[in-house]
Amino acid sequence: MAEVSVRGVTMRFGELKALDDVTLDFVDGGFFALLGPSGSGKTTLLRVIAGFLFPDEGEVRIAGQPVERVPVEKREIGMMFQNYALFPNLTVAENVGFGLRVRHVDRAEERRRVGEVLELVQLEGLGRRRPKELSGGQRQRVALARAIVTNPKVLLLDEPLSALDKALRVDMQIELKRIQREVGITTIFVTHDQEEALTLADRIGILRDGRLVQAGPPREVYNAPVDSFAARFLGEANLLPSPLPDTFAEGARLALPEGAAAYAVRPEALTLTPTPPEDDVNALPGRLVQRVFAGSMATCVVDIGGGGTWKVIDRDPDLPQLPEGAAVWLSWDAEDTIPIGAA
Ligand SMILES: Nc1ncnc2c1ncn2[C@@H]1O[C@H](COP(=O)(O)OP(=O)(O)O)[C@@H](O)[C@H]1O
Ligand SMILES: [Mg+2]
Repeated sequence: MAEVSVRGVTMRFGELKALDDVTLDFVDGGFFALLGPSGSGKTTLLRVIAGFLFPDEGEVRIAGQPVERVPVEKREIGMMFQNYALFPNLTVAENVGFGLRVRHVDRAEERRRVGEVLELVQLEGLGRRRPKELSGGQRQRVALARAIVTNPKVLLLDEPLSALDKALRVDMQIELKRIQREVGITTIFVTHDQEEALTLADRIGILRDGRLVQAGPPREVYNAPVDSFAARFLGEANLLPSPLPDTFAEGARLALPEGAAAYAVRPEALTLTPTPPEDDVNALPGRLVQRVFAGSMATCVVDIGGGGTWKVIDRDPDLPQLPEGAAVWLSWDAEDTIPIGAA
């Protein structure tokens, strides 16, 4: 196990800066989720850490040691990428043991170690099967077992679950978290799925156009996003500009803190009512555009005038069914206003 430290890393592809002065620490034994839209540099950062790419500027340290001259196979990194491929002609046990065989680990030790990781990923007894005799989720576990069989210091996972359907993905998230805890390996997990990041990680980082926008514990980033991009990327956010334009939602009652560039309000912090709320809360009048029932909650879209719409998560199942088109009020407590950036 080891910490990974990325210092001022810039990676260019011709004119493009795929990574732009990225500095990030991945703590020993931590589970870090790297988030960002497609093309933001997530895969590039993993490839730099793994040693497939050499940064134009900056350095990577693993366990305190600069790794500039350490080749991929010596960095003691386990990897599982989006398009991981198992060897179709090898059995599960042979697939998992492959990394040990190329390291000339003796057969008895290989058998022992493969048995151990197959048990860890709950595939004991399936060692003799071929990949085509496995389900998608089982194949995923084989790939994970193969990535950790050599006891790497660091585990790099590049959108490993994105090909799975929703139910299976949630199962695998729970599994992955359990296995990571059990092994205690420093893990860097790339995803574009914010829910996945929140489920799994103890720290997250958001990349945009090769730059690190923000990093920290999920709660902190969620509750105190540094800008409106971070606010929208991690969770949904309704945004209020600052200062508010004069034409903004006529009849609104707002008491907003001074000195922010904008404000965000999370959909779940909002209460939807047909009549104006008590006057000790922030309140915006609007028109209900859409209400979509989804089991334990309803997702509502409210037109607040001037072309703006806000999203509301309504968890009150007893709320009278307001018809679409109805005049409504949105309200929220002062403490649920999230100031963003400095004005
Ligand atoms: N080998 C490469 N050559 C040229 N451009 C690349 C190469 N790899 C990645 N890029 C570009 O770098 C940017 C970041 O890519 P990537 O790290 O794959 O993003 P992400 O994984 O966040 O989707 C993209 O604009 C991509 O097109
Ligand atoms: Mg990628």
